[in-house]
Amino acid sequence: PSLHFVTLIGSLRKTSINAAVARALPALAPEGVSISALGSVGAFPLYDQDLQEQGFPAPVLAMAEQIRAADGVIIVTPEYNYSVPGALKNAIDWLSRVSPQPLAGKPVAIQTASPGAIGGARAQYHLRQSLVFLDAFVLNKPEAMIGLAGSKVNAETLELSDSGTREFLSRQIEALAALARKVKD
Ligand code: FNR
Repeated sequence: PSLHFVTLIGSLRKTSINAAVARALPALAPEGVSISALGSVGAFPLYDQDLQEQGFPAPVLAMAEQIRAADGVIIVTPEYNYSVPGALKNAIDWLSRVSPQPLAGKPVAIQTASPGAIGGARAQYHLRQSLVFLDAFVLNKPEAMIGLAGSKVNAETLELSDSGTREFLSRQIEALAALARKVKD
């Protein structure tokens, strides 16, 4: 059976290296796996329970529906100050209040890219902590931390040009597909 994954991007900027990584993923997917991008988390207002009680914002409901319909989610995000960027955390906070909660029981893979050497490793573990509360099934291995990403993404074309990284990411997508097939059974 074929699988469909969606990408959730933690950066809002146009020339984001993480967005560039996410754009590379559809072409790296194995046979039988398709990948498309969710909308920008920048469309979500700051979480406020008063706002929620007036009705969930349309972009939140739309994303929740797309996640529910998907077989898995690939979160591609920078690390900010050793943690999860506020915009991504805000999106997770909104999504966590929607019922049925769309990330519960959902296979999730995490990818972080940074110009720094460690590739956003610290943000991954903060993100995993939130996803435990949401009861997502986060892929343990392989971990995808893309360090020194400035030399792996072409600054002009914004393409993920590094072949080793492309190969590694395709293996992670295969592992997510294997997890998603187990969850589906
Ligand atoms: C950063 N950056 C960064 N990098 C890192 O490896 N660890 C970190 O803790 C931080 N902290 C941090 C905080 C803030 C507020 C900014 C703006 C940046 C650098 C970051 O990895 C770099 O700007 C990336 O290019 C951001 O990702 P996108 O937007 O290119 O996807």
